[in-house]
Amino acid sequence: MSVDSSDEPQQEESLPEAKLAPQVFDVEFTEEELTSPSKKADIGQAEPRPALDLPTASPTPDGRARVVTVINQKGGVAKTTTVINVAARLATFGNRVLVVDCDAQGNCATGMGIDKSRVRAGTRTLLLEPEKAINTRHATAVENLHLVVGDRSLVGVEEELISQLGRERKLAEGLEPLLPHYDIVLIDTPPSLGQVTINALVAADAVLIPVQTEYFALEGLALLASTIREIRRRLNPRLGVDAVVLTMHAPTLLNAQVAAQIRETFPDLVVDPPVRRNIRIAEAPSHGVPIHVHAPDSAGGRDYLALAKALAERWGLASEVVG
Ligand SMILES: Nc1ncnc2c1ncn2[C@@H]1O[C@H](COP(=O)(O)OP(=O)(O)OP(=O)(O)O)[C@@H](O)[C@H]1O
Ligand SMILES: [Mg+2]
Repeated sequence: MSVDSSDEPQQEESLPEAKLAPQVFDVEFTEEELTSPSKKADIGQAEPRPALDLPTASPTPDGRARVVTVINQKGGVAKTTTVINVAARLATFGNRVLVVDCDAQGNCATGMGIDKSRVRAGTRTLLLEPEKAINTRHATAVENLHLVVGDRSLVGVEEELISQLGRERKLAEGLEPLLPHYDIVLIDTPPSLGQVTINALVAADAVLIPVQTEYFALEGLALLASTIREIRRRLNPRLGVDAVVLTMHAPTLLNAQVAAQIRETFPDLVVDPPVRRNIRIAEAPSHGVPIHVHAPDSAGGRDYLALAKALAERWGLASEVVG
């Protein structure tokens, strides 16, 4: 046998089809990208956005708290940060405030310095055993601010609710006996539309939508608007939008342009001031305290104070720091 002939089978075992596979050029996609009018380099010159058709909310019935669900299906837009810091500030104005954490991530407890592992009854209990509602509340380090703790047990609740009659109204039922004891209830939601989030929308008088002033901010908001309309039509005719708040705002042209687009999309709903991107806000949860305790004089501390005042005025609540 010659050395040459032993090389033959090796060539046959190689993978010629890989070399022959055609390269794909998606010509149609490339053409569409270049001609699309919305792909202009400067979004400040983009065509004006049509305003989203959103219902306004009804006034709060006498003798009970307004229930406001903080929602945006986009993740990481400062929903939880806004719930913690607005709720804490409203409490410093002397309002009686309850936060209900509907997110299995349970970040509200961390941000308010509550050890989740020691909590016996939280949002899961409020949803599944409404008769125990009174015992689901926990005091926090901030006077007048109570929390119903969310934690991992909420993951299983999604499935448990599916088989229950009247599953969308469980949270509304659980909250009912608590409402006369508070001036405002803020509900934090996860970045998804599961059974628990639907419960949070059915229990609410209104929603507050935090929107980050970044490029993709408005993507998905049309979907959120249609979700709100659908819930209003089928399950909760009271539901409307109370406020849109601008979060993680930076002093760049892009942020300013996106903020202008958000104002066009939600005429009359944006509540000022925008909350600036500020490291102190991101640090505060690691100390288990809201920004007004961690760094009240920081840009973030001042922005959340001014935002909480503006929201308090909109909601007819006390809006001056007590004491
Ligand atoms: N103004 C701000 N400046 C700097 N960092 C911020 C600001 N607001 C929020 N953050 C940080 O951004 C991150 C996301 O915020 P947060 O958890 O409140 O968003 P979220 O919408 O609740 O997220 P998820 O969708 O996961 O629930 C956090 O690390 C938070 O500390
Ligand atoms: Mg969150």
